[in-house]
Amino acid sequence: MNTSKTTKICQSPAEAAALLRDGALVALPTETVYGLGADATNPVSVAGIFESKQRPAFDPLIVHVPDVTMVDKVVAEFPHTARQLAEAFWPGPLTLVLPKRPEISDLVTAGLPGVGIRVPGHPLTCEVLRLAGCPVAAPSANPFSGISPTTAQHVLDGLGGRIDAVLDGGPCLVGVESTVLSLMTPIPTLLRPGGVTREAIERVIGPVDVAVADPEQDDQAQPAPGMLSRHYAPRTPLTVVDSLNEAIPIVGKPTGLLTYGRPAAETVADGFERVEILCEQADLKNCAAQLFAGLRRLDAAGLDAIIAIRFPSQGLGVALNDRLQRAASK
Ligand code: TXA
Ligand code: MG
Repeated sequence: MNTSKTTKICQSPAEAAALLRDGALVALPTETVYGLGADATNPVSVAGIFESKQRPAFDPLIVHVPDVTMVDKVVAEFPHTARQLAEAFWPGPLTLVLPKRPEISDLVTAGLPGVGIRVPGHPLTCEVLRLAGCPVAAPSANPFSGISPTTAQHVLDGLGGRIDAVLDGGPCLVGVESTVLSLMTPIPTLLRPGGVTREAIERVIGPVDVAVADPEQDDQAQPAPGMLSRHYAPRTPLTVVDSLNEAIPIVGKPTGLLTYGRPAAETVADGFERVEILCEQADLKNCAAQLFAGLRRLDAAGLDAIIAIRFPSQGLGVALNDRLQRAASK
């Protein structure tokens, strides 16, 4: 693989847009995580995404557009349900899977008939998308299976030298990836929990199904693509426990703790080499915004083990626990 590129820092959305139009790989800020963007109608550029991330070709990419009027460039149908959801949640962390148009490269969808599409909630990137004029495919801008980037520096740490450019839009405010909802099934199916909660979606369109990963099957044979058991993972082995009482540092091994909430701040047990408190208020939104950065700091601290406390499993906590579980998978 070519790792000798110079990764440039874009000075403006116009510069990022011009690079994308020229076929370059440009990391862009979104409200969820930084995405590694390429023109979704240019198969060579899209192939570059898979190469630079070392991402398996069976894992499809999400396509980004600046507003709902641009969906027709990407999808063949945009049904009433999609309109209702777009009105409620776009720009924002919700990806809809809908029948794709032929102009969208098969590489983008991993050969599937449906394409994931969303309008990201970051003004700089919406400006880039508007100026570029093409739909932009963008997975999270990190090496495959690693921790997603929530700052431009995280992108450079993981992909510097392998991509053409990055546009710095500050830290991501949501901090976990978009919720992925398929509208290809008779009842909409939640494929990945994320920044928009299931409860919020159901308030708009009524009950949805939830795709469940099959632990007996390997990654390629899951009911939905991208249900990868190991993902978002630090290099340091990670264990997830239900409460602070169960978080016991490993004797003789420098152990880190990832936790949240004021009781945690007051009662953190001795013996941890390093403690990351995601937020003292135990507010799930703030926890989400800090999760990947906190995991990265622990991973960089030279520890032998990390213990993370599970979040309450409702609302955004479902997405946070999903990320922790996969980060802990061997
Ligand atoms: O918040 C986000 O969604 C970020 C930002 C950059 O937009 N992007 C992101 O992309 O998280 P990525 O590649 O890390 O996750 C894409 C996942 C796939 O693994 C799969 O689960 C689902 O989205 N997906 C994408 N296209 C799909 C399709 N055509 N059918 C089913 N699932 C799809
Ligand atoms: Mg990702």
